[in-house]
Amino acid sequence: MSVIALVPAAGSGSRFGAPSPKQYLQLEGRPLMWHTLSTLSQVPEIDRLAVVISPADEWFDDFEWDIPNLEVLRVGGASRAASVAAGLATLAPAPDDWVLVHDAARCCVTPALVTRLIGALADDEVGGLLALPVADTVKRAGEGGRVERTLARDGLWLAQTPQMFRAARLARALALDGKGAVTDEASAIEMLGFAPRLVEGDAQNFKVTYPRDLALARAILAARKQ
Ligand code: C5P
Repeated sequence: MSVIALVPAAGSGSRFGAPSPKQYLQLEGRPLMWHTLSTLSQVPEIDRLAVVISPADEWFDDFEWDIPNLEVLRVGGASRAASVAAGLATLAPAPDDWVLVHDAARCCVTPALVTRLIGALADDEVGGLLALPVADTVKRAGEGGRVERTLARDGLWLAQTPQMFRAARLARALALDGKGAVTDEASAIEMLGFAPRLVEGDAQNFKVTYPRDLALARAILAARKQ
């Protein structure tokens, strides 16, 4: 049974607002997602590593990747779930292989964090994800930017990636996402009636989403080089 790492990187990064998608922004002299892919390539438990880019991608070939055995799949879709589903269909894993999905934009992940998830799920029936318990008080917004109510934060977690599930079940789950509403693999698995395991992640494993996130990612990666 293998562990196949699949990195969806076919997003346009519209929330970030840069001319090129955020996964290609420069960080420490490399495209942002080079750091992601390089880290995953150092995880001993991972047997295959693939990145899904858009068929219309104009940037990937402009950079030097030098990631050993990286499989580049130009099959990205209109949603994250569609990109992962298309990548899975192309890789054609065995039904029981583990598929470990990690956002290209979470470039500060570490090999130790990925190994923690894989280790925690080794004997798990369902699979699961890295996540963090919510530390702040959570408000639901109502009309006119006013608080409608305060949610009980007990038991609330923020989902991160990697998320890891068995290949056949994940493909079946993603096929249920007709409208592209599913924003992570775990919620697709939940739609099948399974309960993914929560494994404690790390605040440094955040997703670069807005320009303000870039300075933090840069500082974290620079500090690790020292
Ligand atoms: O948009 P968001 O930040 O949630 O995207 C998470 C990850 O999914 C990113 O790495 C992005 O490139 C990827 N994605 C994708 N195909 C899409 C949309 C997003 O591979 N159509």
